[in-house]
Amino acid sequence: MTTKIPIIIDTDPGIDDAMAIFYALASPELDVVGLTTVFGNAHVDVCTDNAIRILDIAGRSHIPVAQGAARPLAMPYRGPADYVHGVNGLADVALPLPSRAPHALAAAHFIIEQVMAAPGEITLVPIGPLTNIALAMLLQPDLPQHLAGMVIMGGNAFVPGNASPAAEANILNDPEAADIVFGADCPIVMCGLDVTERTIMSSEQIAGIASIDNDRARLAAQILPYYRDFHLSHGGPDGIHVHDSTCISYLLAPQHYRAVHHPVRVDCGQHVGRGKTWPTTRHALAEGPWGGRRAITILTEVDAAAVVALELSRLTVA
Ligand code: BDR
Ligand code: CA
Repeated sequence: MTTKIPIIIDTDPGIDDAMAIFYALASPELDVVGLTTVFGNAHVDVCTDNAIRILDIAGRSHIPVAQGAARPLAMPYRGPADYVHGVNGLADVALPLPSRAPHALAAAHFIIEQVMAAPGEITLVPIGPLTNIALAMLLQPDLPQHLAGMVIMGGNAFVPGNASPAAEANILNDPEAADIVFGADCPIVMCGLDVTERTIMSSEQIAGIASIDNDRARLAAQILPYYRDFHLSHGGPDGIHVHDSTCISYLLAPQHYRAVHHPVRVDCGQHVGRGKTWPTTRHALAEGPWGGRRAITILTEVDAAAVVALELSRLTVA
């Protein structure tokens, strides 16, 4: 038996967050040591309740959930994306009450505690705004050196944004935090729109989930049509862009991706480019805004059919 990869998923559930969490929990290659929550698709208390509910539905209520930031580092919260994910973050489906209260530690402290107790082992998987990760780095500046790395859903290197012409939603929700995190001194993989918008789970595939006989799939079958309808009504595909689950697919099957390697800065200005992730493309600049930053692994190509098939196969695991 190979060693499992221990991960902490930092999340704002969120329909695609729920899918990513189910995918990780059903993958024997991964050990989900905790979930941390952040504002984003909904207010953080709603996201925390949803994270606990998702674990309850997956029969994994023993996994800790630590609640994190309610707002970005340096601006007001832009507000819930209820037209994408529903007012309750999960397609407004009626859900049971969460089985428990969150962990006593706040998310940033929980991350620090877990990482420092297992130096070099834990991979952070942020799939929401990067506020908790930035806070953890500010509180514990050597945190990155004690991580195995980070696999982040966020950003757009060579394609337009989805929350503005410039920016992807998770990054636009806290550009200052994202710029701190992309400057971390550890291996970072950026699963941005360059690959997530090319990874499509079709309406037909979504309809097929209804025939899978387990509680995770039953919730997925209820919530995914809402997310698909958002895509259809906003000029997207007849299906969904697979955003957050891309981090899990990359961890399980990196051979299905191609990447380039560049330092990344985030536009923290107050004008139209706010939240844009900017790789250096031509020069490894030793000085200036990109100077001293490690190269980020920026995913640029994906075998979409293979990774969607992998995710669907894990949904059938009892
Ligand atoms: C990201 O934004 C959120 O709405 C999704 O959950 C995902 O993390 C995609 O841009
Ligand atoms: Ca998310």
